[in-house]
Formats: sequence, structure tokens, C-alpha cells
Amino acid sequence: MIPYTIYLVDDEASIRQGIALGFKDLYRVVSFGSAEDAIGAIRSQRPDLVLLDIGLPGISGIDALRKIKGFEPDMIVIMITAYEDIHTVISAMKLGAYDYVIKPIHMDSLRVCVRNALETIKLRKEIQALQENYIRENLPCFVGESDAIQDVIQFVNKVAKSPDTPILILGESGTGKELIASAIHYKSPNFKGPFVTLNCAALPEELIESELFGYEKGAFSGASPTGKRGLIEESPNGTLFLDEVGDLGLAAQARLLRFIEKGEYYRVGGTKKLLTRTRIVSATNKNLEDMIEKGFFRLDLYYRLGVIKVEIPSLNDRRDDIIPIAKYFLMEFGKKQGKSFNGFSSRVQEFLMNHRWKGNIRELRNLIERAVLVGGGPDITMQDLGLEKTSKGTDRFFPRTKNRAGFPSLSENGVDLSAMEEHYITEALQKAGGNDAKAAKYLNMSYYSFRYRRKKLSNLQSLKSF
Ligand SMILES: Nc1ncnc2c1ncn2[C@@H]1O[C@H](COP(=O)(O)OP(=O)(O)OP(=O)(O)O)[C@@H](O)[C@H]1O
Ligand SMILES: [Mg+2]
Repeated sequence: MIPYTIYLVDDEASIRQGIALGFKDLYRVVSFGSAEDAIGAIRSQRPDLVLLDIGLPGISGIDALRKIKGFEPDMIVIMITAYEDIHTVISAMKLGAYDYVIKPIHMDSLRVCVRNALETIKLRKEIQALQENYIRENLPCFVGESDAIQDVIQFVNKVAKSPDTPILILGESGTGKELIASAIHYKSPNFKGPFVTLNCAALPEELIESELFGYEKGAFSGASPTGKRGLIEESPNGTLFLDEVGDLGLAAQARLLRFIEKGEYYRVGGTKKLLTRTRIVSATNKNLEDMIEKGFFRLDLYYRLGVIKVEIPSLNDRRDDIIPIAKYFLMEFGKKQGKSFNGFSSRVQEFLMNHRWKGNIRELRNLIERAVLVGGGPDITMQDLGLEKTSKGTDRFFPRTKNRAGFPSLSENGVDLSAMEEHYITEALQKAGGNDAKAAKYLNMSYYSFRYRRKKLSNLQSLKSF
């Protein structure tokens, strides 16, 4: 077992020696003659506990305690005092000291005091490990095996680590933006704090500001007589998720910008400045750059919200994920409805792989939920998906052989799909004068799909000129 490390700070050499000797076989004791030296050492190598004399030359024990608690708020510090100066002891306890012992030191009582403190540390660590485990095990499952989604997951794991950097999540509807936002929260140091969501599209503009910043009593007619805390106030040391942030009005955008820049804000109708530290994660399926051009979204806010941008590719651009996600939903809904299926019929697999998923994963989820509800097993069939008539057995929506006019049939030599993609993307960019949003429209695809495909092809010479 790794022994606990105790930093002992006292200017009297005899006391340092006495205590070090008393703890010789129990703990690793490192002694310091001044608070300055001890603080430097704590910063570079955190001990488990600090024994701190109050009457020190240079920085006093009380000032040292204040400093230590400033950068290590959880540090357990036991004060050593030469006489029972009640005022000093009270200030030490108020500053967060764990306990105190009085000189001359009785080794037996010091041992008990230190043993209790270390027991507290052990319990704290156990509780933290349990909490972390619980959260990890109950984290919503984000399924995805494609390279594209693995890159997103790795990136999210990296950027979640900072507690306050704003993150903007972009992607088509139903790609999992909300799921990624909650993953960011639970993988961040803020995971013990609240995860608070505001759907900016769900409320009328007049209400958004009071929802976000709160209001004072009498701020407007119909306001609650006691006033109301805003969602920012409800999310200290946590994450505030602004969903559909593209729907935020310009007035609310200005106030939000001020909050992000300064960390301060006022309730609606209030004059008291409030401060809250929370991480802002926002998401939208709108093309914010387009909205900025049209004057509907502030460029400065866009930069602030998107210090880190996470783009989730459309399900159509990561087809390797379709079957694993479908199987996951099959299991999830099967469990809920007490049914068990082997898998999907080959027709269903073919359909799932070739369908154009406009609603992305949400569409896939709804489809599987329905299939599980009506299906009798052992496999999910086209009928279960509601895509094939039971009696006649013909395709209702998706004829199997479909050759749209103008497309050459597959010959023995095959077709070079990526060359076609490059050709059309280049042509669309040329026609659109290099504007991604316009080029996407020429190709009948969403802005994000276009950006993703363009990025994939970005090394090609023909695209470098844009
Ligand atoms: N990779 C995934 N693995 C498992 N479930 C997923 C995954 N991605 C999304 N889902 C599920 O799909 C549904 C839609 O996801 P979510 O609500 O996060 O999408 P969104 O991008 O926020 O959509 P919108 O733009 O419409 O708000 C949710 O039920 C979510 O749990
Ligand atoms: Mg959403």
C-alpha cells in the first residue's frame, strides 16, 4: 500500500524532529521550516495532509492556510498552535482547517487526529470513485464504429476536459447533437454540477431572456411576485446547453455575449450584478455562417460560442454505423417491450443501408421502435418496418431496381464513384463561386453533408483553388 504523505510546517526544528519520529513507521513525513517553502512544494507535489503551525516567521500560518485553500480547496490542513488563542483558531476553522492541536504536542492525540483526517480522505476518495463509476455506467450509449464518428468521439473526449471552454455542436437534425452535449458534460470536470438545457426554439423571444437570466419581482406584467432564478443561475459549475441556438433573437444574443465575455449578468429588471461559472455548450442545425451574412446572428457571438466546434456527420456519410446503431435500438426497444429478435432480414439490411436518412438517427430510431412493436420475429422484416404490404408482398415505397433517367448502367468496368463525386463537387463550387451553402443546394444535399464530403476530398488539386 502507498503510504500517505504529510507535509509538516513548523519553524522549530525540535518539533519537526519529534513529530517526524512519532510518525516514522506510519506515514511519509516531509518537513518545512517556512510556509513559503511548503506552499511551493504543495503546488508541485500535492500531499495528502498538511500539519501547519500558526506562528510562523514570514507568511503566517493563517495566511498560508488561505493561500493553500485558494489553489487546493479540498486539502486537509491541521493547524498547530502554541496556545489556545481562540480567535486565531476560529479564523483558521472558518478558512476551512480540518482540526487543530495545541503545543506542547501529545503524540497520541496528534495520531488520533491525523488518523481521523486520513479516514475522511479515504472516504472522500471512495465516494468520488463510486460517483464517477455510477455516472460512467449510466452514460447514454453513443454507438458508432465508423472512422468519422470515432474521430468525433476522440475529439469530444479531448475537449470535454476543460471546464469552461464553450463548444458549438453542428450537424443535421437527428444526428445526436444533444447526446454529444450530455457526453461533454459527463466527461468534463463539471460532471458533478448540473446539466441544464434551454431549447431556444421552444420559447417566444420575449420569454427567452427571463428564462436564461431570470427576473426580479415586478420586472414585467405577469411576472411571479417573488422573481425567478434564470437557467444560468441554476447551472453553477455545470453545463448550460443552448439547443437550437440559431433561433436566439438578437437582443438575447447581445446579453449572452456579455455573459460569456465577462461571466457576469443581470436578471431582467435587476440591478445586482450576478456572477456564475458554467460551461456553455450550444447546438444548431442551422447554417450560422449564412445567418450571419443575412444579419440574423452576431459574428462575435458565433466566435465566442464556437471556440471549439464539433461537427457531427450525417448518417448518410457514415453508413458503417447504420447496422450497429439499428442493432442497438433493436436491443433497447426489445428489452423495453419484453421481446427478443435475432436481427434483420436481408431485405431490411439492404434497405437500411441504401435509404437516404433525412432525419438521421432519430428517423432510424423511430423506425426500429415501430418494427419492434409490431414485429413477431424471429427477424425484423420489411412488413414490420411498414414498408411492404403484407398481402401482395410488393414494395410500397422502395422498388428494388431503380434506374433514374440519365444514369449509365453498371458495366463490366464498374463506375468510379469518387471521381464522379469530385467532378460534381468541383462543378458545384465553381457555379457557387466557392460558397459552400450554395454549392450544397446545387447538389441537393445539406450544408453539413456537403462540408463533410468536401473536407474528405480537400487534398485534391481540383478543389484547392476554392
Ligand atoms: N450515436 C448514437 N448512438 C445511439 N443513439 C443515438 C446516437 N445518436 C443519436 N442517438 C439517438 O437519436 C435520437 C436523436 O438524437 P439527438 O436528439 O441527440 O439529435 P439532435 O442532433 O439533437 O437532433 P435535432 O437537431 O433534431 O435536435 C436520440 O434519441 C438519441 O438518443
Ligand atoms: Mg437536439
